[in-house]
Amino acid sequence: MPKFPRGHTTPASVVDALKALAGNPPKTRARFAGGRCVRGTYAPSDRAQEITKSQSFTRPSRVLARFSLGGSPDAANVGNSVLRGFSFRLGSDDDRSDILTQNAPMHFARTLDQMLAFLKARIPGADGKPDAKKLRAFSAANPETLHQASYLAGRPPPESFAGTTYWGVHAFPATNSKGETRFIKFKIAPVGGDVALSGDEARAPSADLLNHDLEQRIAAGDVRFSVMALLGRAGDPTMDVTVRWPDEDRREAVRLGTIVITGIEAERMCEVSAFNPANLAEGIGYPPDDIFAARRVAYAISQAQGR
Ligand code: HEM
Repeated sequence: MPKFPRGHTTPASVVDALKALAGNPPKTRARFAGGRCVRGTYAPSDRAQEITKSQSFTRPSRVLARFSLGGSPDAANVGNSVLRGFSFRLGSDDDRSDILTQNAPMHFARTLDQMLAFLKARIPGADGKPDAKKLRAFSAANPETLHQASYLAGRPPPESFAGTTYWGVHAFPATNSKGETRFIKFKIAPVGGDVALSGDEARAPSADLLNHDLEQRIAAGDVRFSVMALLGRAGDPTMDVTVRWPDEDRREAVRLGTIVITGIEAERMCEVSAFNPANLAEGIGYPPDDIFAARRVAYAISQAQGR
């Protein structure tokens, strides 16, 4: 388990701040509280073993997954500043991996101290609003905390959970069947391409509309994702989750396999055994950055607080 020295921010204090920012609703996730639990299948490609020996990725399996929203669960208006999440579990009980992804390729903080300060700067005061002056000062002193918001603002709001590209963000060390290890990033790409309105047509869908769209597309057998590994190179910034790799969009990418979402599951199924990025079968290691070290602890803390 990673250690968090005295005097530094702990994962528990970040979980508290996440909850405070969400208004401390009882018995819900600290983040991505609104979502749909779904099931499906995973089929590996014949190139998966070149990248990882993980049996989660090299063998076919059933999939438990959840699409989620970073904002309010029943928002009438889910604009592009609201993150979309996609968590999925591959493999059997002995070699299970949980991969948690979001529709932005970077995180909003490089360190846990910075993450706590970012969240605290946004917690509303007595007037229901964050202190604008403090927030501006924090952003000016920490410009990398705006990379994610700028990325999202530059795109129309995703119109469909099924037609959105999701990223695992961190650099994961992947070891293949020959024992060779290299860093990869997960990119989860909808097989039919992204679905988004543009220009004057762009509008923010409601949470209900997104859920309804998902149900319809699942019924039509239309929800498929390629699980891609973007290949790292020497010198890539593997410790900083606020920046992308140089030329990341043009990186060599290997398709590890395909996920097909086949049905809606009872929400309870995604609660009794919740997703946790610390669950990784041998063949994909833990990313080395500080934010992942905190995530290895934070999900268990949040889940122990109940649903
Ligand atoms: C690259 C950055 C991150 C991504 C892509 C990400 C993604 C996600 C997703 C998709 C969920 C919903 C899980 C579900 O459906 O059950 C989630 C939940 C959560 N995340 Fe993250 N997250 C990130 C960073 C962090 C960090 C740095 C922390 C805290 C240190 C954190 C704490 C949590 C917590 C506490 C939950 C609720 C877990 C639960 O109660 O089940 N996340 N995250």
